[in-house]
Amino acid sequence: MDGDTLKVETLTGPALLPHLKDLARLRIAVFREYPYLYEGDPAYEASYLARYTRDGGAVVLVRDGAEVVGAATCLPLAAEADMIRAPFHDHGLDCERFFYFGESVLLPEYRGRGIGHAFFDAREKHAASWTGTTHACFCAVVRPEGDARRPQGYRPLDGFWRRRGYVPYPRLVCHMAWREIGGEAECRHDLSFWIRSLGDAPLP
Ligand SMILES: CC(C)(COP(=O)(O)OP(=O)(O)OC[C@H]1O[C@@H](n2cnc3c(N)ncnc32)[C@H](O)[C@@H]1OP(=O)(O)O)[C@@H](O)C(=O)NCCC(=O)NCCS
Repeated sequence: MDGDTLKVETLTGPALLPHLKDLARLRIAVFREYPYLYEGDPAYEASYLARYTRDGGAVVLVRDGAEVVGAATCLPLAAEADMIRAPFHDHGLDCERFFYFGESVLLPEYRGRGIGHAFFDAREKHAASWTGTTHACFCAVVRPEGDARRPQGYRPLDGFWRRRGYVPYPRLVCHMAWREIGGEAECRHDLSFWIRSLGDAPLP
């Protein structure tokens, strides 16, 4: 990673409070892109992001000098919202054993320098330190093959996630609603899970 000016740091609890506005700005900027196409809602962002300041949550921040240019979030799955835990309940999986990785967002000009790997390293370390955690998981939006909105040259992250040891679980799907760019109303999106073991525990 280009370490000359970039600083990567894992923050928890009240130390995160001064950065929630930066996090909201980053999420809104980065998730406008395909595949999320999220029309950001600052009011929602404020309440959504507050959860990471409690219950074992953590945020990995990347700063270039004073500017926050990237962030990745995580929280014990048991502390997550019902809609995120629902597929685990439905498939008889014990939420207490999973740590949920919420999002990784990095401004485009900082990509391709290893920060995505640093986000996973830091969150996996934090998750492994949480008693009872055996697995990490995250979910990604499912878009149809041949989606006309997919930009030329778009590189899916699936290969990266597999190389990090994550396995797709297409049967574990949660649903989230957001308004898409140019849309009038919120619509429901399917997000399917990826899981990896953080130690010796077998995959579910
Ligand atoms: C996910 C994200 C944080 C990764 O950041 P990054 O710093 O570019 O990642 P790295 O440099 O560590 O590279 C990670 C992998 O991404 C791939 N990659 C590198 N540059 C890339 C680029 N410009 N575009 C797409 N993928 C790229 C590489 O294949 C690499 O995998 P490898 O090292 O196993 O070959 C960043 O791409 C991003 O913010 N994307 C938009 C938001 C998003 O989709 N987040 C994930 C779901 S929440």
